Amino acid sequence: MDELKKEIEQLKKERNAVLLAHYYVDDEVQAIADYVGDSYYLAKVALKESKDVICFAGVNFMGESAKILNPDRMVVMPDQLADCPMAHMIDIDKIKQVREEYDDLAVVCYINSTAEIKSYADVCVTSSNALKVVSSLPQKNIFFIPDENLGRYIGSQLPEKNFIYNDGFCHVHRSITKENVLKAKEVHPEAEVLVHPECTPDVVALGDYVGSTSGIINYATASDKDTFIICTEMGVLYELKQKNPGKTFYSVGHRQFCPNMKRITLENVRDTLRDLKNQVELPEDLRLKAKKALDEMLRIAG
Ligand code: 13P
Ligand code: SF4
Repeated sequence: MDELKKEIEQLKKERNAVLLAHYYVDDEVQAIADYVGDSYYLAKVALKESKDVICFAGVNFMGESAKILNPDRMVVMPDQLADCPMAHMIDIDKIKQVREEYDDLAVVCYINSTAEIKSYADVCVTSSNALKVVSSLPQKNIFFIPDENLGRYIGSQLPEKNFIYNDGFCHVHRSITKENVLKAKEVHPEAEVLVHPECTPDVVALGDYVGSTSGIINYATASDKDTFIICTEMGVLYELKQKNPGKTFYSVGHRQFCPNMKRITLENVRDTLRDLKNQVELPEDLRLKAKKALDEMLRIAG
């Protein structure tokens, strides 16, 4: 293991590369990354990165977003099969159909989406900036794609808008059920429940805090409570425990693991940096169209 880490550090220097990692990848990959964060933070890091190579320890839409925002860098993915299923859960025809049906409409696209889907949207959001971005849009009608649960959570806070939802979902967050959260609360009544907004509305309703992965980490760190029930992917435990060695974190079941994020290993990070394989490439016209929606998010969210 130590040998592998040394190899990665050496390759990072040789390739003039930076390693970005999402909070859901395995602990040892987070530990060796130069930047670890939620989707919004990592997109902002990628935008400003000046190293020649960005190695993205995450799922495909994250690497794609990095390439869209920073086309002069080489972006490489440790495993091309690490793909978020939700990122594909909307048909372009459906977007066109809703655009025809509604005037005064904004198509708001969760960053968990393919570049092609982004290219048909007006603005992107992440779970940490969606409320700010959508509330500042002038349009009354909001078509929120692809995730229904995040859409419903934001919609519940903006009654002045008319939301149209799409039926995309995250299977990892959907596996967290209200019944299991209630059972965990029964066992640990003193615990605060921290929920990612990709969870279903009945789980969101049980949250003492609802927010992005970094929101959950920051909330638990600032809280004077010392026990928490975590309703998101369990990769966040690494940072939660680093920042809060004296606090206790419980899951609500055995399925809070994203199999796609878990495809990233020290071995495939090393191989990718060594061989510069799995480079993210996008046709320039598609990149420019998708960039508009990401730029709009960055402009509004700041
Ligand atoms: P965050 O932006 O909160 O890190 O979420 C990304 C994600 O994929 C959640 O499933
Ligand atoms: Fe996609 Fe869910 Fe995995 Fe996040 S946790 S990358 S939304 S499948």
